[in-house]
Amino acid sequence: MWRSNWFLILYLSWFLCIPSTQELQTHPPQLLLQLRKHLEYPSQLDIWGSYNGDICNLSSTLHMSVVCEDNFIIELKIKGDKVVTVSEFNGFAIPNQTLSESFSIDSFVTTLTRLTSLRVVSLVSLGIWGPLPDKIHRLYSLEVLDLSSNFMFGSVPPQLSRMVKLNSITLDGNYFNGSLPDWLDSLSNLTVLSLRNNRFKSQLPSSICRITTLTDIALSHNQLTGKLPDLSTLTSLQMLDLRENKLDSDLPAMPEGLITILLSNNSFSGNIPAQFGHLSKLQHLDLSLNHLSGTPPSSLFSLPNIRYLNLASNVLIGSIPNSLSCGSNLGFVDISSNKLIGGLPSCLDGMSNKRAVKFGGNCLSVGSQNQLQESYCETANIESKQSRGRMVGILVAVVTGTVLVLVLLALGVLLLCRRNRSGRTFEQNIFSKVVQDNSTTGVSSEVLANARFIAQAAKLGTQGAPACRVFALEELMEATNNFDSLTFMGEGSNGKMYRGRLENGTYVAIRSLTLLKKHSIQNLKLRLDLLSKLHHPHLVGLVGYCIDNSGQDDSVGIKVFLIYEYVSNGNYHAYLSETCPEKFLKWSDRLVIVIGVAKAVHFLHTGVIPGTFNNRLKTNNILLDEHRIGKLSDYGLAVITDEIEKIEVKGEAPKSRTNLEDDVYNFGFILLESLVGPIVTGKGEAFLLNEMASFGSQDGRRRIVDPIVLTTCSQESLSIVVSITSKCLSPEPSTRPSFEDVLWNLQYASQVQAAADSDQKSDSTS
Ligand SMILES: *[C@@H]1O[C@H](CO)[C@@H](O)[C@H](O)[C@H]1NC(C)=O
Ligand SMILES: *[C@@H]1O[C@H](CO)[C@@H](O)[C@H](O)[C@H]1NC(C)=O
Ligand SMILES: *[C@@H]1O[C@H](CO)[C@@H](O)[C@H](O)[C@H]1NC(C)=O
Ligand SMILES: *[C@@H]1O[C@H](CO)[C@@H](O)[C@H](O)[C@H]1NC(C)=O
Ligand SMILES: *[C@@H]1O[C@H](CO)[C@@H](O)[C@H](O)[C@H]1NC(C)=O
Repeated sequence: MWRSNWFLILYLSWFLCIPSTQELQTHPPQLLLQLRKHLEYPSQLDIWGSYNGDICNLSSTLHMSVVCEDNFIIELKIKGDKVVTVSEFNGFAIPNQTLSESFSIDSFVTTLTRLTSLRVVSLVSLGIWGPLPDKIHRLYSLEVLDLSSNFMFGSVPPQLSRMVKLNSITLDGNYFNGSLPDWLDSLSNLTVLSLRNNRFKSQLPSSICRITTLTDIALSHNQLTGKLPDLSTLTSLQMLDLRENKLDSDLPAMPEGLITILLSNNSFSGNIPAQFGHLSKLQHLDLSLNHLSGTPPSSLFSLPNIRYLNLASNVLIGSIPNSLSCGSNLGFVDISSNKLIGGLPSCLDGMSNKRAVKFGGNCLSVGSQNQLQESYCETANIESKQSRGRMVGILVAVVTGTVLVLVLLALGVLLLCRRNRSGRTFEQNIFSKVVQDNSTTGVSSEVLANARFIAQAAKLGTQGAPACRVFALEELMEATNNFDSLTFMGEGSNGKMYRGRLENGTYVAIRSLTLLKKHSIQNLKLRLDLLSKLHHPHLVGLVGYCIDNSGQDDSVGIKVFLIYEYVSNGNYHAYLSETCPEKFLKWSDRLVIVIGVAKAVHFLHTGVIPGTFNNRLKTNNILLDEHRIGKLSDYGLAVITDEIEKIEVKGEAPKSRTNLEDDVYNFGFILLESLVGPIVTGKGEAFLLNEMASFGSQDGRRRIVDPIVLTTCSQESLSIVVSITSKCLSPEPSTRPSFEDVLWNLQYASQVQAAADSDQKSDSTS
């Protein structure tokens, strides 16, 4: 009896202890090692195998993070490198893309759900394939679920509705092909629903209107059909992204708090509701590529926060009133490919230096950007008027007659004026070309979808930035003592630099440029204003400019002075050549500088619309301030000097031209110089051919890596940077990494270095 009781107690205690022994954190727990095995040992988890401390103390990397609370794992994030690139997926393993045939999503999720305390699960780009098993709901504490960029298909299991704590569901970039879940309203705390890039086919369930906590709905690139329900009950909603679906209703009223509305490439029809013109928080509105008709509400253009307005490729008719005023933040308008007639108000006529406007493919009476014959728009415009009644019909006939007479008259006048206006048309063409050129690379829809982030980045950038102003030439002469040779700082590829002292005592750097007369002053101002909008903590700020067009002679060209903040401490190139020990830049210092610059370039590419490319990145152009914070100069000049450029590089081999223009490639060179020290100008390509291979071996590294780097870096940190450098310098542009990638790798390298440095510190003190 005593004996059997003893067994019972033993048995019970063993049974009761199972859950907690599994959570014991003294070593990477068995469960994590099992997950690693299921995921077929992705390199991002190598550290789990070799680490024998407390897993909760393991520092996070960009690709892996484990967070504990009271010794329970509450957060697990793994980001693999299996990026989905196939367009066809039929539900079976694909070699080198998905995990292997023997992977079982069922066993994987079974193991995962034994980590019952998990609140955050993010398993991205790991090649996970199969239908999502319903037992995932056993993670009843889960608040954030992100399974983006895998190969999951089928439906989202309804059992998810029992995970009432869910706050954010992200399943972007999978192959889910069922209906959209209609039980989401049982998730009373849901704020983010992101199911982009799947194959959901169904209508949008009306239950979605009851989840009043939602802030973000992103369902773009699916096959959703039917009606868009009235979402105005969603008072917290800030982002609605339904691009590229097959929705075909009228547009309903929208919730007042929306900041971003992206509905392009659907089949929406009917008028744009007047209510859209009252969305006072709205910043980005994209309704392009639909069948919207009627006249667009004028109030859309003057919304207080509107920045981006795209109504292109619809069947909008009527004219835009001359009295219309544009919102002060409006930077991009596209009304092209509609059936608009009449003139354009001055804030949209392409002459405004504040915004980019595309209006081609209409029947506007503006003589630029490919306007079509009036007859093309006439039918649509007249039909709509006829539908209002016969009386109006008669009126229209009269009006049309009058209009015809007027048109004939106007045509005569137009022909007479044509000559005088040709200069202006030319400018508009140039500018619309600038916009178009950049929009192919710059304004991607992904950028827009992340508009909230951008708005933040832009705001961050403008904080405390002085407004850009126009200087008088006299002011600059005074500041530089008539461009005295003592103030001369040097001559770069873009003209001479002078140091000046303004009346209020602040120092500035003044760059003088000579531009071909091809630019008109008006066009130039417009480009300079674009440039002055770029504010970032790691960009040398443009304080103002001065255009000197006193030289009327065509052969001289226009002299332009750009006035920048003065950064006092020399450039990165000089520091890299430094032999004085006080000025040595340790490896960790170099990482901080290149990370700052990478952030700035990332901002130039994506943080503003249109993006700014070809930023002439080189170590000479990275200036250091008194705190050794790196700031990029010479950026964005392509915006104003592209014409000169074209003449200069004519005759060079096309390959080197692409390289010259590619920021990633040039940034690779900056990284290379950070590793090996300055490379003599012009010897870069030769160095690449002869020496890159040396990075592969320890001996080679010892030979070519700058000794200051060798003695201050951890091998792991160095390897990360060597690897990303050689990717940036890949001869094949398409295989070079994105700037985001570069930035992530550098930040990771910096983290690794910081960890190594603190280890070393504690070693030497103990
Ligand atoms: C983990 O870190 C905590 C606090 O930093 C420390 O007290 C503990 O000893 C560490 N555990 C192990 C196994 O390293
Ligand atoms: C979903 O996709 C899988 C895998 O391609 C396929 O087997 C299944 O029939 C599809 N289901 C539907 C409803 O289309
Ligand atoms: C998969 O990758 C390996 C090594 O990267 C390569 O040898 C093999 O040919 C690839 N297989 C396919 C089907 O692409
Ligand atoms: C919803 O979130 C709030 C605040 O974050 C929290 O207090 C509440 O417990 C959550 N509700 C559920 C069902 O988890
Ligand atoms: C619009 O969507 C279709 C698929 O629905 C796609 O093929 C097409 O490229 C899209 N057009 C644009 C301009 O994005």
